[in-house]
Amino acid sequence: MSLNIIGMGKGIPKKQITNGEIANYVDTNDEWITSRTGIQTRHVCTSETLSDLAATASLEALENAKLTVSDIDLFICATIGGELRTPSLSCTTAEKIGLKCTAFDINAACTGFAYALEVAVGYFAMGKAKNILITCGEMMSTQLDWNDRNTCVLFGDGAAACVVTPGDSMRYISLIASPDSTILKIPVGTGNTPFLESKVDEPYLYMQGQDVFKFAVGVCDIEVSKALETLDLAPEEVDWFLLHQANKRIIDGARRKLKQPEEKFPTNIEKYGNLSSVSIPLLLYEMIEEGKVKTGDTIVLSAFGAGMTAGTAVFKWQ
Ligand code: COA
Repeated sequence: MSLNIIGMGKGIPKKQITNGEIANYVDTNDEWITSRTGIQTRHVCTSETLSDLAATASLEALENAKLTVSDIDLFICATIGGELRTPSLSCTTAEKIGLKCTAFDINAACTGFAYALEVAVGYFAMGKAKNILITCGEMMSTQLDWNDRNTCVLFGDGAAACVVTPGDSMRYISLIASPDSTILKIPVGTGNTPFLESKVDEPYLYMQGQDVFKFAVGVCDIEVSKALETLDLAPEEVDWFLLHQANKRIIDGARRKLKQPEEKFPTNIEKYGNLSSVSIPLLLYEMIEEGKVKTGDTIVLSAFGAGMTAGTAVFKWQ
């Protein structure tokens, strides 16, 4: 017994920024960003808080699942960080939507959705939950150095949510962590302690892009192949590969290794940039809304992120 996804939702901030507008802040241009990443626009918070976006996504997921907050007995948020260090994003969001149940955050960076799915399966196995709300929310715009063209062009803000119940739609899940805090990290501030002896890094996202790129293409190939082998599936039998939306060239690299057509690898990176843990559930939401996902479809989800972490899940859609 694992789980079924029975309703999904999204929360996207109003303000959209084009590549051309980013050129007002750093020395870049649309041609470079589009050709090197596939990103054309991203949304960023202005008046919205992250818990506003998470609340919007959560309420839509509940409505689509035909449930109310009183039906939910566990709330998991996947996030790199909410607007507060504490309370958690799950608590600030629960407060907004009137949800009262066990609530906590998990941080597996861009792999957060996969990690949340595995935690949900564990709660179902313990018999401690019947309906679980999983909400991924990221406000990357506040974690970037807007003077650094290597990173500020890549990310966006948003939220996506799903309600899960016990079921057997998810046929496989595998999570890995390959610890390395040198190639991708976001340092935290240190308050005003007078005691620290060494200077700490600024609290902005720091990334060695090419090392992350190599990790991503490699881990995606290995982990997706492992999933298909475990389920005795050929790549041809998979209807959709929903890969983490970090760079279109990473998706293309993974696709070439699997020797599958481009139509099987939908993207939303052109509209949203990299939304960390939100990318994959938002893509799944859009595919359901557009009527692309059909009952019986085989869907592979594959994410990677800081940690370094990676997670792969396979659904036979119900
Ligand atoms: N606009 C214009 N030029 C830029 C630029 C920008 N936004 N960002 C970098 N450049 C420049 C660099 O300064 C460099 O110039 P130089 O040759 O004069 O030194 C040149 O472009 C090439 O930079 P490089 O870092 O080699 O580019 P790249 O092809 O590796 O692409 C990334 C950079 C970040 C797009 C790419 O490495 C990547 O996508 N990595 C993975 C990122 C990722 O997945 N992160 C999230 C993980 S969850």
